[in-house]
Amino acid sequence: MKKLWVFGFCLWIFLLPAEILSQEKWLDVPYVPTKPEVVEEMLRMAKVGKNDILYDLGCGDGRIVITAARLYGTRGVGVDIDPDRIRESRENAAQAGVSDLVKFLEQDLFETDFHEATVVSLYLLTSVNVRLRPKLFAQLKPGTRVVSHNYAMETWKPDQSSIVMVDEMTHDVYLWIVPANVSGTWVWTWPEISPNKPCRVEMEQLFQFPHGKAVIDGEELPLRDVHLEGENIRFTVDREKDKKAVIMTFEGRARGHTIEGNVSIRDDGKLNRTSWKATRQPATMKPLDEEADIN
Ligand SMILES: C[S@@+](CC[C@H](N)C(=O)[O-])C[C@H]1O[C@@H](n2cnc3c(N)ncnc32)[C@H](O)[C@@H]1O
Repeated sequence: MKKLWVFGFCLWIFLLPAEILSQEKWLDVPYVPTKPEVVEEMLRMAKVGKNDILYDLGCGDGRIVITAARLYGTRGVGVDIDPDRIRESRENAAQAGVSDLVKFLEQDLFETDFHEATVVSLYLLTSVNVRLRPKLFAQLKPGTRVVSHNYAMETWKPDQSSIVMVDEMTHDVYLWIVPANVSGTWVWTWPEISPNKPCRVEMEQLFQFPHGKAVIDGEELPLRDVHLEGENIRFTVDREKDKKAVIMTFEGRARGHTIEGNVSIRDDGKLNRTSWKATRQPATMKPLDEEADIN
């Protein structure tokens, strides 16, 4: 009998690494839960509220969506490829009394349709985030917040970051706001300023940082103080007229191939405001994540 026990134990020791290895094979990231203090900071930074739909991609025991539902009444979806995690998540949601607000899907996060999300939370790895990046841009609406524990997105720099200290360990939290794609050439007519030719703005874009020039009445002028948050864009153009500065600040909302908003013009101490609507030449638009497209 004793021999049988020893044989059984040796067999278990022998098979254990194979089991761990096979788990690591199908998980892109091993299971490590986020500490509650860090979960709260992630939700605070993403300004999660009652009207949000939060997706946690690789949800573990469901704690991020469950906490959001408990604290803010947020609807949430947790996605995990590991059936044990999904079972735990459902039990934890029931225990927390939030099963009506959250659901859990056993599936690969790379196969998941999360386009309805207004907030996405991640605790993956930088390499996995970067692989996910083109899907985030393809599926998420401009203005969607993406929050990540410890791992960033390489060239897509975060809009905000913070550090949480728990048990003498530091945890980074990063926040990105999905930008609208404003790259390309935008044209509009402006008879008062440019009677003979249409005006245009030409923009290049590195994620949430566009830059470029305006061509107004044939004059090329750099854009300054360009600011893009979600679909809201603002930039300033300086012109000189009769040796005096004319400062034009454009503000608008970019939706598809249209930017609609207004221009404030400061000219000789007077401030005028007029509406502005520019249309993009579709072929001039470039993908937001060119690097990922190449890889
Ligand atoms: C580091 S844990 C994070 C858990 C949870 N989000 C948290 O912060 O507490 C990563 C989770 O991702 C899951 N995971 C790994 N690869 C995945 C994949 N391809 N699709 C879905 N889930 C995956 C793992 O099972 C694990 O639960």
